[in-house]
Amino acid sequence: MGRYSVALAPLLADLAGVSAGQRALDVGCGTGALTRELVARLGTDRVAGCDPSPAQLAACRAALPDVDLREAPAETLPWDDDTVDLALAQLVLHFVSDAERAVREMSRVVVPGGRVAACVWDYEGGMEMLRAFWDAAESVDPDAPGELGTMRFGRPGQLTALLSGAGLTHVAEEHLTVTSGYADTDELWSTFLLGVGPAGAYLVAQPEDRRATLRAAYLDRLGSPQGSFTLRAVARAAVGTVPAA
Ligand SMILES: C[S@@+](CC[C@H](N)C(=O)[O-])C[C@H]1O[C@@H](n2cnc3c(N)ncnc32)[C@H](O)[C@@H]1O
Repeated sequence: MGRYSVALAPLLADLAGVSAGQRALDVGCGTGALTRELVARLGTDRVAGCDPSPAQLAACRAALPDVDLREAPAETLPWDDDTVDLALAQLVLHFVSDAERAVREMSRVVVPGGRVAACVWDYEGGMEMLRAFWDAAESVDPDAPGELGTMRFGRPGQLTALLSGAGLTHVAEEHLTVTSGYADTDELWSTFLLGVGPAGAYLVAQPEDRRATLRAAYLDRLGSPQGSFTLRAVARAAVGTVPAA
């Protein structure tokens, strides 16, 4: 998943209009794919980030030791009102239990006239790697949790409604498309075996025989690629402006 985040980060930063001199907050920074992009554009002292996961945050801190990184969920951001010019959440809002509150919090810490931007995976088959995984999982396991959780807000207009509902104005929504190349199917499958994210966690919890069945069903859905291949991922992204108080 990390490789998709790295490719997505400059696209989300462009959509948010990140430019020199601004201060930005990366909400749900994870291991720092977007944080690194923000630091490259704005400098270490103009970027902050947070994530509720100590493990994710530790990895981010190891890569960016001088950035203000705090352990916190999006729903209760430990920053004062009007602290930054931009708040961004990349592939986070589908995991947040109270997304409405999270967007209100992002708006609170942004100055009037600043922007809030977020992206999630597109629901309509936009994230090939995950879509095929959950389709395959459901075909071999009726109790598989499915992809609805990971694709929340991924239908047209849902992010716009979320941002508008939090009071943001001039909300615009668009697609961000990235690709990732794999040397072979072993490389792709090994990413799930790391146990990261809902799909990885599901896979490593399965018995060995089901893993093998799932792998076969998964590769079948991807067209049984031989040798190197590329997968496409489409995110839905939205940006809105914080109104004057
Ligand atoms: C798919 S990762 C994305 C990480 C990073 N933004 C990126 O693009 O690589 C999802 C992240 O959301 C974080 N997360 C889960 N619940 C959250 C919450 N309530 N508030 C903020 N982040 C949360 C997870 O810990 C994880 O780091």
